[in-house]
Amino acid sequence: MENHLVIAIDGPAASGKSSVARALARRLEILYVNTGAMYRAVTWHVVASGISSKDSEAVLKLLGETRIVCGVYEGQSNILINGADPNPYLLSEEVNANVSNIATIPEVRRQLVDLQRVYAVDFDNVMEGRDIGSAVFPETPYKFYIDASPEVRLMRRQRQGLQDSISARDRQDSSRRTSPLIIAEDAHVIDSSHLTIDGVVGEIIGRLKLKGLKILDCTSRIAA
Ligand code: CDP
Repeated sequence: MENHLVIAIDGPAASGKSSVARALARRLEILYVNTGAMYRAVTWHVVASGISSKDSEAVLKLLGETRIVCGVYEGQSNILINGADPNPYLLSEEVNANVSNIATIPEVRRQLVDLQRVYAVDFDNVMEGRDIGSAVFPETPYKFYIDASPEVRLMRRQRQGLQDSISARDRQDSSRRTSPLIIAEDAHVIDSSHLTIDGVVGEIIGRLKLKGLKILDCTSRIAA
């Protein structure tokens, strides 16, 4: 189904991948798709409905009765749940604590991956997540894995003023059966511990050029 450019950016919690993916998409003037926000939005809906994130049967029953609409707003992916905007709640403590449970449910992943793939039907995009290069778009030649040391990642999250036990999420995300967080074989790994966002974006752009993608300095892109 894919017929547009997909630049896959994966990595563990607080590795800087969101800031990098957003900046890269802006630089290339293409869509930024945040798949973590999709798992977070579903988690918010589950928690707000009083359902345990560990009760996969109840979660799937709820999702069967839920209208999830993915769209585009101001150059980014956007999700509405039964017409409501979950954005203000996506980084809440409750969502942080439950999102990795929701993300282990294979049927939830299947439904969200279907929605993620639809973006590439219409848009060139930078898509950020945990399994984009390994499972959602394994055929894209443009795969990046952004990492940083556990200390730096913890510090970045604390600086955002967020309560988020990232090591627990990392463990759960890396050990789940369906589409765990792994480094895709052909991904280019960047350790962002001592790099700025612009530094990482610059490295990615250099790599994309090496791979034959034509990126002009005036920011427009012509496929090779
Ligand atoms: O805040 P952070 O950047 O660490 O995470 P996120 O990208 O917002 O993703 C939140 C959670 O969603 C992750 O911890 C995963 O459990 C799940 N997720 C996933 O399983 N697959 C994706 N493609 C994206 C996120």
